[in-house]
Amino acid sequence: MSATSETPRRLTIVDVAKLYADGQRIAMLTAYDFPTAQLLDQAGIPILLVGDSVGQVMLGYETTVRVTMAEMVHHTKAVVRGSTRALVVADMPFLSYATPDQAVENAGIFLREAGAQAVKVEGGVRSARIIETLVRAGIPVMGHIGLTPQTINAVGKIRVQGKTRDQARSLIADALAVQEAGAFSMVLELVPEQLAAAITERVRIPTIGIGAGAGCSGQVQIITDLIGLGDFIPRHARPYAHVRDTIREAATAYAADVATGTFPGPEQTVRMDDAVLDDVLGRGSSDRPAGSVPIGGIPLDRDL
Ligand code: KIV
Repeated sequence: MSATSETPRRLTIVDVAKLYADGQRIAMLTAYDFPTAQLLDQAGIPILLVGDSVGQVMLGYETTVRVTMAEMVHHTKAVVRGSTRALVVADMPFLSYATPDQAVENAGIFLREAGAQAVKVEGGVRSARIIETLVRAGIPVMGHIGLTPQTINAVGKIRVQGKTRDQARSLIADALAVQEAGAFSMVLELVPEQLAAAITERVRIPTIGIGAGAGCSGQVQIITDLIGLGDFIPRHARPYAHVRDTIREAATAYAADVATGTFPGPEQTVRMDDAVLDDVLGRGSSDRPAGSVPIGGIPLDRDL
């Protein structure tokens, strides 16, 4: 086998299109840091999304609106360093793609500086021109319609999108606009399952659902929901682990061991040759004569 064929190659949007064409459901997860990216990559997750959800689940902001380009670039770099195989999609933060020029500049930073392979932008019809500009510039784009958390200040609260006739029609228009603008896939967030399935049937690119039922081409979950790390698990999420409990129990056990002096134990402790220390402390046979100046000003045991 040649060295090149052994080197793991990152997935591209062409591989994602192939998964979709082969009818394989796509499992995407968010990732924000190096070790988690390593683990998700090892688990074979094909797409890692550095979501601006990092603001809420990792940085403690109330909404994603506060997240900056600098923060997103920082986290994207860590996820790229931690993964070798997954396609890394960086979320364009609020107001980083308000104009086509600004969108290209910031998406360029994600690809060139941070090492992502694609970006995600929120909005359907309203973002179509931006998506088209990015795609023309050679930047793969994932769309995001339904609930778009960056508009929280305009829409007021997080709720399922598309339940009424008007909303459902406009969501279908959004999906078609994102597809026609050239996106390689789109997130459908908090959409009734029948509508999400209907959109999925009508588009030729994969739909990745979150709170949008099982009829999408793939699913995305926030990693902290998946592993049970967050203090709130939304209804659409299924925790596959309970890391919050594990971390709390580990911290409690550690504090107890420190208090009783059982940590560190012999396995975590390094010893040296006692004779060397005896020499250094003036307990050894090669000791200097009494009354001479301490070596390097260090007082020896017998001077104390
Ligand atoms: O920021 C994020 O994590 C997202 C997902 C909800 C798709 O946009």
